[in-house]
Amino acid sequence: MKQLAVFISGSGSNLQALIDAIRAGELEARIVVVVSNRANAYGLVRAEKAHLPTLYFPLKAYREAGQSREAYDADLAEMTLAYQPDLVVLAGWMHVLSPAFLGRFPGRVLNLHPALPGQFAGTHAIQRAYEAFQRGEIDQTGVMVHWVIPEVDAGPVVATATVPLQAGDSLADLEARVHATEHRLLVEAIRSVDPVEK
Ligand code: GRF
Repeated sequence: MKQLAVFISGSGSNLQALIDAIRAGELEARIVVVVSNRANAYGLVRAEKAHLPTLYFPLKAYREAGQSREAYDADLAEMTLAYQPDLVVLAGWMHVLSPAFLGRFPGRVLNLHPALPGQFAGTHAIQRAYEAFQRGEIDQTGVMVHWVIPEVDAGPVVATATVPLQAGDSLADLEARVHATEHRLLVEAIRSVDPVEK
């Protein structure tokens, strides 16, 4: 049974997809903690409704104390290790993790990114794909799950899926189509990996 630590920063619809898949017996896993760096992340509400342990851990306190991101990342890793996860799943986690975190979970951190490998790394990927489509530069976008390395959204790809762009799409139409694809792909990706031994 894979023990998952799921990191969120926002709505948590991908977290919800994992909760639902586990409940439905579609994913042999257990979510051992949901971590958020934002107090108002609705994903924390979803976690509490599912009776999952949560950990709110903001960077702000470190910044105000004049401490580095590495200090934050190192402490976050320590606290996460206490839950003994096999996998750390970044599902809408909007904070770039440094080697101070990644080094504690070698080969065990997955990230979901709403773009195809090598395209639109970083934030607002769906909007940037939408604008590229409007400019006639692309005719499809997609989603990927990859192993996390220090370079943002660039590690070895575990799973990917294309998402069509249609004339007349609004940005909201595309976002809905991308998120629906993410919800499916994330479950498939976690099912397909064998995390390294702890
Ligand atoms: C998803 O598109 C994820 O890939 C991106 O941020 C969004 C988070 O959505 N990093 P949610 O919080 O899982 O609903």
